[in-house]
Amino acid sequence: MSAKPALDELFERRITYPDFGPQERLARLVGLDGQKVRLTKILSLLVNPAGLEAWARKHHVGADGLLNTVLRRPPLVVLAGDVGSGKTELAETIGDAVARQEKIGITLFPLSLSTRGQGRVGEMTQLLSAAFDHTVAEATKL
Ligand SMILES: Nc1ncnc2c1ncn2[C@@H]1O[C@H](COP(=O)(O)OP(=O)(O)O)[C@@H](O)[C@H]1O
Ligand SMILES: [Mg+2]
Repeated sequence: MSAKPALDELFERRITYPDFGPQERLARLVGLDGQKVRLTKILSLLVNPAGLEAWARKHHVGADGLLNTVLRRPPLVVLAGDVGSGKTELAETIGDAVARQEKIGITLFPLSLSTRGQGRVGEMTQLLSAAFDHTVAEATKL
């Protein structure tokens, strides 16, 4: 591969939360209440570890080992399920629940299909690495 891929080739668009659109779309997803609650908790820890630290300081002083274990888990969530069961819709809207719960603003960077590349060896790895580099750079600005 030649030059570093541009930001707009890697990401379709940005979605920011909280916002009414995603809030309504999330509410329209039926039969996923358990998944919504669990995902909101997991993502809240990932995007806002300070919340857990404050909670531990208040309720479990000295539980540093446990806190470390939770906070050092890989920041990755995999959604599995049949086609059309709501994985993409959940992924694109759950940020609203997290933003509201944590009282923070969140921006989602959904990868565009072109980050899958054309199948050349190592191409997808390179594109995904570039996407993460861009995302980290954007996050660092905050
Ligand atoms: N549990 C659900 N409740 C309401 N609508 C759903 C549900 N699951 C999927 N849909 C709708 O079906 C369509 C396809 O869902 P999508 O999230 O793209 O599925 P997946 O990514 O799991 O293949 C979307 O319009 C979505 O809103
Ligand atoms: Mg999908």
